[in-house]
Amino acid sequence: MGHRYLWTPLRLGPVTVRNRIVFSAHLTNYARDGRPTEQHAAYYAARAAGGSGLIITEEHSTHPTDWPYEKLIHGFHREVIPGYRRITDAVHRHRTPIFAQINHNGGQASSMYSRRAVWAPSPVADPLFREVPKAVDQAEIDEIVAGYGLVAEHCAEGGFDGIELQCSHSSIVRGFLSPATNRRTDGYGGSLEHRARLLIEIVDAVRRVIGNRLALGVRICGDELIDGGTTIDDAVRIAEMVEATGQVDYINTSIGVATATLFMIEASMHVPPGYAMFIPSALRKAVDLPVVGVGRFKDPLQAERALAEGHCDLVGVVRGQIADADFAAKARAGATEDIRLCLSCNQECVGRMGLNRWLGCIENPRTGRESQGTGLPRRVRTAKDVMVVGAGPAGLQAAIAAARNGHRVTVYEREDQAGGQVRLAATVPNRAELGDLVRNQLTECRRLGVRLELGVGVWPGLVEEKRPDAVVVATGAEPARPWWAPPEAEQVLDVRHVLDGSASGGGPAAGDTVVVIDEIGFHHATSVAELLADRGCQVEVATNGMVVGQDLGITLDMEGWWARAEAKGIVQSTDLVPMGLDGRSLHLLHHPTGHMQDRTPDWVVLAVPASPVEWLFHELQERGLVVERIGDCVAPRRAHAAVIDGERVGATL
Ligand SMILES: Cc1cc2nc3c(=O)[nH]c(=O)nc-3n(C[C@H](O)[C@H](O)[C@H](O)COP(=O)(O)O)c2cc1C
Ligand code: SF4
Repeated sequence: MGHRYLWTPLRLGPVTVRNRIVFSAHLTNYARDGRPTEQHAAYYAARAAGGSGLIITEEHSTHPTDWPYEKLIHGFHREVIPGYRRITDAVHRHRTPIFAQINHNGGQASSMYSRRAVWAPSPVADPLFREVPKAVDQAEIDEIVAGYGLVAEHCAEGGFDGIELQCSHSSIVRGFLSPATNRRTDGYGGSLEHRARLLIEIVDAVRRVIGNRLALGVRICGDELIDGGTTIDDAVRIAEMVEATGQVDYINTSIGVATATLFMIEASMHVPPGYAMFIPSALRKAVDLPVVGVGRFKDPLQAERALAEGHCDLVGVVRGQIADADFAAKARAGATEDIRLCLSCNQECVGRMGLNRWLGCIENPRTGRESQGTGLPRRVRTAKDVMVVGAGPAGLQAAIAAARNGHRVTVYEREDQAGGQVRLAATVPNRAELGDLVRNQLTECRRLGVRLELGVGVWPGLVEEKRPDAVVVATGAEPARPWWAPPEAEQVLDVRHVLDGSASGGGPAAGDTVVVIDEIGFHHATSVAELLADRGCQVEVATNGMVVGQDLGITLDMEGWWARAEAKGIVQSTDLVPMGLDGRSLHLLHHPTGHMQDRTPDWVVLAVPASPVEWLFHELQERGLVVERIGDCVAPRRAHAAVIDGERVGATL
């Protein structure tokens, strides 16, 4: 395939990038005590080795007043320089340029770690951190500018090829640029020219430090998506001002404010691919500087089209390269099919950031562990015949890992399709991309010569007949009835019965009333509620928690769910514990008050913890066979745990 634009080199000031694919900045939480680590070096090097045209590191803080996240790199300490060197050397080995993103988060922070007041243009509390910042005076503004200069100096000494100023979604510069957070009446407030003064001073200071040896870029927010915030028209004017300095080599783009509208910066699969394209498109019409477009670039074809249609000069592929470090190399080799497509599920990248854990990926067990070992396949001396029972994410990953090591692997699946619960979960509105997890695994299985036997249930006799050298049981989990729902109550269904159509009479129909019980707090309840509302049912979701779909918050799906639930007339009821079912009466305890509430729905749909399917594992063990078990049949968890289990066991057979 051509990809004429993707592989055309481009100059960004003193730096030439070999292709247009950028690994744009993103927090990783790999830092320790404010210093970059070996893991940073290995992580970025893997993407450089994988063909990325340009790496931009996560942000480095420019001042001690800026410490919003525990594991932020403190660029203002000279001690970071050896760590910088380790990163840049590792990336340069693959002849790939690497820029450092530098930033002061301003009022989008708290004093929790720094124990100093946060600094901002005006004393306007951030909606997430809810802390009133100190409005900076002239001396403090000068200190901020000097801080950027100092960190740029450290970056230059550390071997970086360029600097990017994050002025987009979480920055004191954004704070100054935005009328929503800048209430100043001095020369830094009021008109856009005044609000942009800090930006221009920083550009000037950084350029003075780096001279013409390093490239300089500015990341701009195309629309803050908040009341009174900047919009695309402001972004265009800011880009023009940046270009007019004559000191900047490229413009990167973003959308939203990290502490108010993060769900649009790192949009999940509910937001269409390329959703932020209007931003580079508008900027590119106004300036001659190269412009980076970012936001759900899923595959090389889509990236190529954005370039060909003139929306941008470079494409930021962040989660796409978190999921597959070899995204660019595979595209270049024409092996687009082999790319492990990002699902935009946000479960293990964005989700783990929010929980202060290191960055990982639901479908790439190597992400976050690049510094542990070479990652090269470990060929075995004696190839074994491996039987994997179950073709869900755990079984398929075990098959991949075992086959990668040289074993002969056959996967048996009772159903006539692979994918287990993921396949079902991908059938609900707007969540089809989750199915790419299975598509990706099946592609890898095919490439590695794994045999797939679909529609074949496994029992101990079959295992004894086949006599494999190793058996991996990945039989998953099955719906469980909670104590309060008697087995004879036919109106009680599990989410799975609704999704696979096995509910008696086809399950809830248009006009039926349904109560969905959410005890998992993730997509299970909300997805089935949407599906049934679309079918014309009147749906209420009741949870024992304080919010329906509690964990949708960490994957940035909460805002979208609320909007869709409201549009579809789905009722959300919280703090309710099911206590029993008499005939059609569902008794719910409102636990904060101790009052009982009753509902009489036509159907009750359960999104509740499942039971592991363990019998095969135990029977094989009793017969003295060498057997391992993985995934939900050990303990029902989310898909990433299944993949990790599969990789761990498959790789060590
Ligand atoms: C886990 C994570 C952390 C991020 N942290 C930053 C950051 O520190 N600075 C920044 O400018 N953008 C950050 N971003 C935003 C990305 O640069 C990018 O705009 C966003 O992920 C959309 O691109 P994608 O759809 O290719 O992932 C982050 C994104 C992710 C997924
Ligand atoms: S965890 Fe999900 S969204 Fe994040 S990189 Fe992996 S596949 Fe993409």
